[in-house]
This record gives sequence, structure tokens and C-alpha cells, in this order.
Amino acid sequence: MKRIAVLTSGGDAPGMNAAIRAAVRCGIEEGLEVYGVQRGYEGLMEGDLHQMDRRSVGDILQRGGTLLKSARSSRFRTEEGQLRALDVMETFGIDGLIAIGGDGTLHGARDLSRRGFKVMGLPGTIDNDLGYTDFTIGFDTAVATVLEAITKIRDTSSSHERISVIEVMGRHCGDIALYSGLAGGAETILVPEIPFDINELCRGILEGVNAGKLHNIIIKAEGVEIPTQELTEIIERKTGRETRPVVLSYLQRGGSPTMRDRILATECAAKAVKLLVEESESKAIGTLEGQIVGVDLEDALEMKSEFNMEMYELMKVLGK
Ligand code: F6P
Repeated sequence: MKRIAVLTSGGDAPGMNAAIRAAVRCGIEEGLEVYGVQRGYEGLMEGDLHQMDRRSVGDILQRGGTLLKSARSSRFRTEEGQLRALDVMETFGIDGLIAIGGDGTLHGARDLSRRGFKVMGLPGTIDNDLGYTDFTIGFDTAVATVLEAITKIRDTSSSHERISVIEVMGRHCGDIALYSGLAGGAETILVPEIPFDINELCRGILEGVNAGKLHNIIIKAEGVEIPTQELTEIIERKTGRETRPVVLSYLQRGGSPTMRDRILATECAAKAVKLLVEESESKAIGTLEGQIVGVDLEDALEMKSEFNMEMYELMKVLGK
């Protein structure tokens, strides 16, 4: 292994820069040449990559987003796109790849690996929806951002004795809602993993009012099918209480990464470089019970992320 490349793909996540920095610096320390690919698999197919040195990743550790830019690529899902990427890597003399991103990115890594190319996948997504790792890079920062928003919304919600429905990201996964709901003291969380009954929800809200609650915070994951605006209107009609929607959207994807995300990203990238130097088979890197691990890429993608029911039940008790 002499020359490796690193890319970020899919939705960006705080901590991706920390991972790029560690991949470049650990790679150079091992005597490798490290190339940065622009705009994920799109840039890889276009041959948009350049050599990086220690200084080129200076002053990025604390920044959200990704220095290398990111993209979602439908072309890379095709055989033609993957063969094109392999051609480019052969031309540039790249022997191994570090791909940082979510589920789609790891599937892309798996496809390259099936074609005989060594790829290490890093879990870069705010969604925390990858089953093979305890946490994904960016999740902790996204939850911290949601918590900050809940604290502010709580102030005004309380002054006006309103119900607030706060929509958070997570695609098909309810973890951002679960963790921010429990840590933020929400009354209710609505997640795609657990069906809910709107009449029961409204009854619970009115019970809270009777028990003296001035306001009510509902965290709704975007993967819950009913649109947030519609849900808000139904709650207002059924409870007779003023109800406001807040969609946090892309706010959750930006910002300086927390300590946890920086360390996770840094340690995963260091492990990826080590495994490439050892000429290991392709792996998905993550943490299992706190330890940094490399899991067979194929196996990793088979592992479904499990919703934490204990946390959910605790959240319901505390939110009453
Ligand atoms: O996967 C990260 C994520 O932010 C999801 O939570 C969300 O559903 C999606 O990306 C939004 O994607 P896009 O950036 O393509 O709008």
C-alpha cells in the first residue's frame, strides 16, 4: 500500500473534517501518499482528486461540513460508474480508499470491495442508523444542536402556554428524536419505529394540562409519516390548545463537532489507515461497546440498527 485516497459522500456530518485530518496525517505518518477526492463518488468518477499534505488539513478539526465537499451520486450505483471509478484509481495509482458517509456511502464502498478494491468505510452521518456501530460520526453534535433548540423553544412555549411540535432529522431512524427527547425533557417523542395513536397523544396532552403543565414539547422524527404541519393542526383542533410547528431541518447538520464526534472520527480514521497498511480486507469501522472495531463490510451492512426501547419507556415515564 503506497497511495490511498479519502472521500466524504452523502449528507455531510459534523466530524467529517476531523476524520479527513486524521486520515491524512496518520497516512503520511505511515509513509503513504494521501489523496483527497472532491464531492464523494462523483469526484472519484471524474478524477477530481489531489494529493494532500499535513498543512492542507490544518485548522479544520473544529469545523462542521467537509473540506472535500460531498454529493449523492446515482451514477455511482451503476456498473459503468463503478468501473469508471476503478479506472481513475488505477490511473492515479491509488491502492486503497477511505469512504466517509452513511448507509449509501457504505453500500458504494461494498460495491468497490466486491470488485476487488480495498475500502475502509467510516460511519459519517447524523442519523445514527448504522447497526454495526454504537454511534455514528455527527450524531452527538446533531443531538446537542437539537437540545439547544429545545431549550429556546421551551422558553417561549412556556410563556405562551403552547404546544410545540419540533421536527428533527434521522430519515428512517428515530434516534435523534429519542436522545434529544430524553435529554431535553420532552413530553412525547414520535418515531418511525413505534406507531402512535393521535387520540391517545391528545388525551395525554390534556391530562398534562389538568395536572398543571404550562406547555408541551413533542419531538417528531421526520420519518413519521404524517406531515408536521398537518399533525400540528390536528393537535390544535383536538386539544383546543395553541400549537406551533418547528422544523429544525439542516440546522442539525452544521456546527462545530462535539468532543465525542471529534474523538470518534479521529480514532475511526486512524484505525482505517492502520488496516489499509496491514493490507486487511475491506471493513466498516465503528465502535462496539466503546472499542474501535473493523467489521467485515458485507456483515456490517446486514446489521440493522436497533431502537432502544428501554430509553423510550423511560422517556415516557419522565414526560408524563
Ligand atoms: O442522512 C442525513 C440526512 O440529513 C437525513 O437525516 C435526511 O433525511 C437527509 O440527510 C436529507 O438529505 P439531503 O441533504 O439530500 O436533503
